[in-house]
Amino acid sequence: MSPVYPLLKPLIFRIDPEIAHGMTLKALPLWPSAAPAPDPILETHLAGMALPNPIGLAAGFDKDAEVPDAMLRLGFGFVECGSVTPRPQAGNPKPRLFRLVEDEAVINRMGFNNQGLAAAVARLKARAGRPGVVGFNLGANKDSEDRTADYVTGIAASAAHARYITINISSPNTPGLRALQDGAALADLIGRVQAARPAGTGPLFVKLAPDQEEADYDIIARAAIDGRVDGLIVANTTIRRPPLRSAHAGEAGGLSGAPLAPLAMAALKAFRSATGGQLPLVAAGGIASAADALARIEAGATAVQLYSALVYHGPGLAAWIARDLATLLRQRGFAHVGEAIGSRA
Ligand code: FNR
Repeated sequence: MSPVYPLLKPLIFRIDPEIAHGMTLKALPLWPSAAPAPDPILETHLAGMALPNPIGLAAGFDKDAEVPDAMLRLGFGFVECGSVTPRPQAGNPKPRLFRLVEDEAVINRMGFNNQGLAAAVARLKARAGRPGVVGFNLGANKDSEDRTADYVTGIAASAAHARYITINISSPNTPGLRALQDGAALADLIGRVQAARPAGTGPLFVKLAPDQEEADYDIIARAAIDGRVDGLIVANTTIRRPPLRSAHAGEAGGLSGAPLAPLAMAALKAFRSATGGQLPLVAAGGIASAADALARIEAGATAVQLYSALVYHGPGLAAWIARDLATLLRQRGFAHVGEAIGSRA
């Protein structure tokens, strides 16, 4: 851990989480980079995209694409901005973001608060030509009559300006959104989004919930493979409540961080088996260390993403995980991180 963050953390934790997050976004461009030189053992490819390392920033941290370059500089191998909805949206009433300190977890019911597609796309355009893989995660407006149409609008407007696009149909905080994961609705969504996808643009991912019924894995995998989706992100936050100690455990919303890890791992394994290794998988949910990252990679993930662990370990986390992952891979005798993918699936 950086020498600075443990000193700042008690102060930050006295501030309302959402205000602290806003301050963090302002301060990040000034934070000293802890990132060491890229290590070739970590270089990998995700759906055809070359990554310097497989540690990504999950969506929701930089919803409006304000700090992707600062996050890349901190050592993330790729950064996913969003979720962004076509029209700006205020999100749910505050408070809507809770630290579960004793559990190293977070509960959020933000409800896709964001400045809208035009604002985020303008920022992506402004960084055109800069290095680094910056993806863009699409959501749907809460009051939208046709949610699927929102993803169509989103991909048409943004795909030319992002390295990849993620269709997020797994936020628990927009009522009814997760119904788009159901077989027929998902096939229709993927078909319409593919039809609207501008030619020559990057990969298309679908982001899924960790709360699937047993039968859903095969149905979702079939729809994704038939619809020529380029990868799955497993997973978003959970509406389940594993045993928790924090006073905020009863808050409504999506749970992320350490208690999500076993659920997200189980979902990853189920999607690996349902896709038979035909689709790249990006693992998210409770990843906080190189050991966590390697376990997901060995279970079949090509890359990983994290968010909640940043709250508890600070902005240097991606760089430390990358360094430790390189060490772990060498200890296990891997020449390259790609060799570890699915090695224990
Ligand atoms: C999220 N997450 C999220 N995901 C997404 O696709 N779109 C979004 O807008 C958001 N927003 C968001 C806000 C907050 C405050 C949190 C904590 C999370 C989910 C996130 O990308 C990730 O999938 C989960 O949080 C699990 O990873 P971690 O946080 O356990 O590493």
